Amino acid sequence: MSADEREYPSEEVQRRRLTVAGVLSLVLVAIAVVVIGAVAGAPQGAASGAASTTNPNGDATSAGADAAPRPAPSEAIAPAAVDTFDKTAGSIDDPASIWVVVNKLRPLNPQDYEPVDLVDVPVAHTWEPMMRQEASDAAAAMFQAATDEADLYLASNSAFRSYSTQVELYGDGSDPTTAPPGASEHQTGLAIDIGAENGCTFECLEDSPEGEWLRANAYRFGFLLRYPADKVDVTGYPHEAWHYRYIGVDLATEMHDTGFTTLEEFFGLPSVPLDQ
Ligand code: DAL
Ligand code: ZN
Repeated sequence: MSADEREYPSEEVQRRRLTVAGVLSLVLVAIAVVVIGAVAGAPQGAASGAASTTNPNGDATSAGADAAPRPAPSEAIAPAAVDTFDKTAGSIDDPASIWVVVNKLRPLNPQDYEPVDLVDVPVAHTWEPMMRQEASDAAAAMFQAATDEADLYLASNSAFRSYSTQVELYGDGSDPTTAPPGASEHQTGLAIDIGAENGCTFECLEDSPEGEWLRANAYRFGFLLRYPADKVDVTGYPHEAWHYRYIGVDLATEMHDTGFTTLEEFFGLPSVPLDQ
């Protein structure tokens, strides 16, 4: 064998070597593709050796065979619902605002305020009710819905009360359910005391079908049960199952949906102790 033959393999040998090298390269590339694909597709927890991962809601999920499939990208990045309700859209100080917050710490200004758009409320009643036009329309619609939807017959026992009427009712102030003159929601023309046409007026409303229907549905018409049983030291009044306050459908729905039951808490106002 010549020196040339030892140092330079024959063309046949070179072809074989090239073929083997080519096959080996293809195999290595194929292995690399498989490994990269497996790492990229594995759950994050599994890639780091963890036994579990976390879904978009923050719940731990098992990485085992019965683990839920990974959410599609669009589900994984869906933003949480954002509450865009503007709590400053209405005045809580202006007595003519349907959002006005009146309590023993927040008397009306002026104290003898009287609405300019009072009308008769066209509903069954024991005492001729008047309310502001918008509140009257909503009350009439609510009374009608109680009948249409649940075969219930509501009746009004009191609605607008002037400053001087509240002076008479308040008397010596011994009744904890009567607001001081100038600090009653009834003076705004936005409050209404509701009972049943069958004669159930005040306390009995709590356990009546009419009271139950009102608690579940009043917000749909813009009304709020103003003095709930579990908030006497927030509102400053004992539970009044009959006293509903018109605040408009937007605010009533927002409070209903977010679980707020008093205007004081919703607007971040000071609580009023029962003995205030
Ligand atoms: N009963 C409520 C508190 C009022 O007198 O206005
Ligand atoms: Zn009332």
